Amino acid sequence: MQINLDFKGRHAFVFGGTTGINFGIAQAFARQGASVTVASRKRENVEAASEVLAKFGGPVHGVCADVRDFDAVGQAFAESVERFGPVDVLVSGAAGNFLCEAKDMSSNGFRVVVDIDLVGTFHVLRQAYDHLRKPGASVINITAPQSFVPMRYQAHASAAKAGVDQLTRVLALEWGGDGIRINSISPGPIEDTEGFRRLMAPTEQDRAAAQAHVPMHRFGAVDDIANLALFLGSPYAGYISGSLIPCDGGGALESVKTALELAGRSASAASKSA
Ligand code: HXC
Ligand code: NAP
Repeated sequence: MQINLDFKGRHAFVFGGTTGINFGIAQAFARQGASVTVASRKRENVEAASEVLAKFGGPVHGVCADVRDFDAVGQAFAESVERFGPVDVLVSGAAGNFLCEAKDMSSNGFRVVVDIDLVGTFHVLRQAYDHLRKPGASVINITAPQSFVPMRYQAHASAAKAGVDQLTRVLALEWGGDGIRINSISPGPIEDTEGFRRLMAPTEQDRAAAQAHVPMHRFGAVDDIANLALFLGSPYAGYISGSLIPCDGGGALESVKTALELAGRSASAASKSA
């Protein structure tokens, strides 16, 4: 079920938009008539996503770029803006994650997540600035509940996503005068995604425990997040900027726990038995 907004003639660029939640967002914009650019690291993901997006009938551009590579990110924007014009809606959602206790985490393990989630978001927003429609652009960062609810085994992602949230707020201050709005969406557990399967509900038992933990007693669907992104990208959200909006069935009101913690297992015990 999707809300119906007309994005014909608008350019939506989704960084990290080739799988999972972000790909669902890219499909929603394609369905509503936008010209869509998706970018991520792996050629096979970019090609597969572009093929699906093209079926909606509008113009589609797929680019391979790692958000950790500042110049490659800049090149991705230059290429897509040449084809489709200034970016009306930018979604920045590339992320990396694994479960690990801080005492077992290597310096590189911490850094790689901060580099993708936080530095990568800065790269995307910084390189996008010259290419955003002014006034009128809407920037949407994809954050996570652990940015504001501390979560075990998530020292790297919690720190990185908290940084993303502050970036959202600071840039809302700095870019508001250009007519650019910037907001964050914090998804709850979203079914059929990498983050959900691998980190939150790898087994049926984990799934049941995680579901009971959501106040609405159901997991989210990709369309739940896509609908919010469509709204934030539209003129109907024209006075919303600098906001962090959870879309999580109320989950962040409870303390958020990974499947491992809900099941009373430790990350180090789980990695030894894996
Ligand atoms: C401990 C680990 C580890 C693990 C990797 N590392 N996995 N440490 N436990 N399970 C360490 C490695 O040992 C290495 O440190 C460092 O991290 C970098 O690992 P690489 O494999 O070289 O990195 P890279 O190939 O760049 O891959 C990045 C990645 C990977 C983050 C590790 O998982 C990835 O690319 N993920 C993208 C997709 C993804 O994660 N999607 C889910 C998003 S969901 P050393 O010291 O050995 O060199 C999400 C929120 C969900 O973000 C919310 C639910 C809780
Ligand atoms: P996913 O399917 O793994 O999506 C991650 C996307 O980012 C993929 O398109 C991936 O493609 C791309 N990516 C990863 N590293 C990249 C890099 N270094 N440079 C460029 N692109 C990169 O994950 P998901 O579970 O749908 O999560 C999507 C977003 O929602 C993330 O920001 C995550 O933190 C957030 N979130 C998810 C959940 C959930 O329940 N799933 C909950 C809370 C928050 P490549 O591999 O081709 O690069």
